[in-house]
Amino acid sequence: MRLLLLMGMLTACAAVTQDLSGKMFTFPLETNTTLVKLKTTKRDFNAVTVCQRSFTDLERSHVLFSLAVPTFSNGFLVFWNGADKELLIFTQNIYAEFGKTDYKLNTWHSICATWDSTSGLVQLWLDGLPSVRKFTRSGSNIRGSPIILLGQEQDSHGGGFDVKQSLVGMLSDVHMWDYVLSGCEIQKYVDERNFTPGNVLNWAALDYEIVEKVMVENKATLCT
Ligand SMILES: *[C@@H]1O[C@H](CO)[C@@H](O)[C@H](O)[C@H]1NC(C)=O
Repeated sequence: MRLLLLMGMLTACAAVTQDLSGKMFTFPLETNTTLVKLKTTKRDFNAVTVCQRSFTDLERSHVLFSLAVPTFSNGFLVFWNGADKELLIFTQNIYAEFGKTDYKLNTWHSICATWDSTSGLVQLWLDGLPSVRKFTRSGSNIRGSPIILLGQEQDSHGGGFDVKQSLVGMLSDVHMWDYVLSGCEIQKYVDERNFTPGNVLNWAALDYEIVEKVMVENKATLCT
């Protein structure tokens, strides 16, 4: 009995590694508890690229990608600011804002965000179109045990969720690299051609854990 209980608990907590090609996470509820946790063993980033596709009808602010380290809850964050209608990229709690973008509701978008500690520059690629390059912070790596969440925005390391910043919608093709992807590589990702998969997070071998009501579904239903 005790062994069964223990095994049950292990199964409930265990992360799985899966090839999610052709799949998406569906976040069907507005809560401050529903999320997907992504696992990596990497602890030190002197550069970052995150790419993902997302679909939502939320006009309000919402999170797209939230990585917290013990010293910075917004270690690397991609966020839609609904009040000012801007996409934000935070690195180590400092943000750059990207306004007048073509971030429309009810359609899929490819969003890539890059940063490197040498230049301190961030750049946003929305559906393959590069933004202005803006400065957040240079000279210090994003360091310490990262907690990477989809669906909730962290105001502390692994917590402090605000239902009004949660994501209701779908996410797919999440990749993360510990270097800045070239424009050509980003274009390949956007066009769904052969690109180098993420070496930190790879959608085709994703180590993840779902908390509460998030579904893994097929992204497209093909008519034959
Ligand atoms: C969810 O929101 C409630 C009410 O604001 C808050 O008390 C709680 O701490 C939040 N939960 C998490 C996990 O952040």
